[in-house]
Amino acid sequence: MRQAAPADSEQVLSVIVRAIRISAVGYYPEAALASWASDFTESGIRRSIETTDSFVAVDGPRVVGFVNLEVQDVDLLFVDPDYGGRGVARRMYAQVERLARRRGLSRLTATASARAEPVFLQFGFQVTSRFVLTDDKGMQFDLAAMAHDLGTGGLVPTAARSL
Ligand SMILES: CC(C)(COP(=O)(O)OP(=O)(O)OC[C@H]1O[C@@H](n2cnc3c(N)ncnc32)[C@H](O)[C@@H]1OP(=O)(O)O)[C@@H](O)C(=O)NCCC(=O)NCCS
Repeated sequence: MRQAAPADSEQVLSVIVRAIRISAVGYYPEAALASWASDFTESGIRRSIETTDSFVAVDGPRVVGFVNLEVQDVDLLFVDPDYGGRGVARRMYAQVERLARRRGLSRLTATASARAEPVFLQFGFQVTSRFVLTDDKGMQFDLAAMAHDLGTGGLVPTAARSL
């Protein structure tokens, strides 16, 4: 895991497109997956990397996962299908949660795809509402708004820590 750099944008785009086109198969119709994948561009990802707290999971020079925190929202969470089911998303989320706790955030939010909802549940999130998003190509996506209560945000007062 390391902080993402603008130069990672091309590889991050590849991870995102492959994750949608391969790992999310069966959760939404094929045309919807194609439409979702086409929403992402290298310049858009570069902008996200430049303006949010962004991290990549790497295997040597290869980028295999991406996550970013936009204020208190876990915005994008994608793992390359070649590395799926091995705890990469879990480790990336742990990084984001540590950062959130260091900042004293009391709550993290996420908008989860049907593919990601059980994953966020495993991370301690709960579904706060459900909705259907219709994109600009008329494709519909069942999504879940989710939140993870971090309690006090992990900020332990000095006096309490020394007890
Ligand atoms: C969702 C995604 C990020 C998961 O990445 P991953 O690296 O395979 O996930 P992990 O191996 O770290 O699994 C995380 C946890 O979720 C659980 N999990 C994963 N898939 C699951 C499923 N379909 N059902 C139930 N639990 C699941 C794992 O068992 C693991 O639990 P644990 O840590 O308590 O053992 C990845 O599949 C992906 O990019 N999907 C396509 C795009 C997508 O939907 N992204 C999210 C956009 S909101």
